[in-house]
Amino acid sequence: MIAAAPEFSTHQTHFAGLAIAPLAEQFGTPLYLYDAELIRQRIADLTAFDVVRYAQKACSSLAILDRVRRAGAVVDAVSAGEIRRALAAGFTAHGETPGIVYTADIFDRESLDLVVEHAIHVNCGSPDMIDQLGDRRPGANVTLRINPGFGHGHSQKTNTGGEQSKHGIWHEQVDECLLRADRYGVTVTGIHMHIGSGTDLEHLSQVCQAMERTVATVGRTVTTISSGGGLPVPYKSDESFIDIEQYYRLWDDSRKRIEQQVGHSVRLEIEPGRYLVAESGALVAEVRAVKKMGTNRFFLLDAGFNDLARPAMYGSHHPIALCPRDGSETTRPDVDAIVGGPLCESGDIFTQAEGGFVCSRKLPLARVGDFLVLGNAGAYGFAMSSNYNSKTRAAEVLIEAGQAKLIRSRETFDDLIRGEQIPD
Ligand code: LLP
Repeated sequence: MIAAAPEFSTHQTHFAGLAIAPLAEQFGTPLYLYDAELIRQRIADLTAFDVVRYAQKACSSLAILDRVRRAGAVVDAVSAGEIRRALAAGFTAHGETPGIVYTADIFDRESLDLVVEHAIHVNCGSPDMIDQLGDRRPGANVTLRINPGFGHGHSQKTNTGGEQSKHGIWHEQVDECLLRADRYGVTVTGIHMHIGSGTDLEHLSQVCQAMERTVATVGRTVTTISSGGGLPVPYKSDESFIDIEQYYRLWDDSRKRIEQQVGHSVRLEIEPGRYLVAESGALVAEVRAVKKMGTNRFFLLDAGFNDLARPAMYGSHHPIALCPRDGSETTRPDVDAIVGGPLCESGDIFTQAEGGFVCSRKLPLARVGDFLVLGNAGAYGFAMSSNYNSKTRAAEVLIEAGQAKLIRSRETFDDLIRGEQIPD
């Protein structure tokens, strides 16, 4: 069954059951809000898979990681910082299903040290990683991340397969990798494929055959296969989820054929980021200016692409809704508006298409002091935020059982300049 996209209203006074305006007053803006229950639901949607491994790059705040862990998922880490976050949130490296897997195309020196120190399972995205790990941890078990020769994503920038991509081990190099592994007594126990982010069922399904071919080359040592992430979520009312049951069946059938091939049971992992957290998050910003440029009307917010980079980076669409400052339900006339932020850069526009083309959107007429709510901002929202223009990062609040809990304080000027020095 494919769940339809929710109706994205352009008027919104509540989030996860709480009134938005008082939250914005209490915690200030820009403010990230997260709905904990929705994250739990999205993890539960995927329980048919043996292992749900959260790609924490989507939103790696400690409290979110903690709730993901409590909901029964394990985690992926792409850097030393993400390994440390996972450990701080209570994930452990050990166990039959490793609680933390390091997936990357390189080891920087810090991540290699950490992986060795904590015996963290590694998903190698380059042949060189096999030697580097083998040298430091002979006899280790590893997963190979294979680039199957094709990929697909919501943007060319999120396509992680094919010859143009830097990600993974080229599918024709598997034999060479096995030789490298042998040299260090390293065993390939897993195969992983992730072809891109925000892709579709048609492309995702092609991965199953590529997986079967690769496992046939590697053989009996394989005990785990990972289908990667990439599950799309609807950002517009005319978009839909993919059919998770159908997707699972495709993979389960593949897994069964692989089990026959290798003669033992094989664990099936999925590694979503966006699917688990995108809808759970919203960015609340205050309208600070309403102005006209010729025929165009601009709503300028106190949040910019330093807070939510996706529209500027990929032309991504996020639903936008007005929350009047007084929290009222009263409707305002719809107008065409361009929504932008405070940054000193023309590309600081939330309503733009890929390529940087500014678009207007039908929105209720906003006034200075009202709030705008940018929806589906939980994945790659805060996680991609920056200090550009010396802006401090937003506060984050988790809403759980009707209570709003601060999970990250707004950054201060002291945070901003920490580590800076003026030499004599
Ligand atoms: N596994 C691997 C190895 C990945 O590289 C990624 C995403 C995922 C899993 C999770 O993919 P997801 O389920 O979230 O599609 N910043 C971009 C997305 C970049 C994704 C990078 N890798 C965006 O805002 O759309």
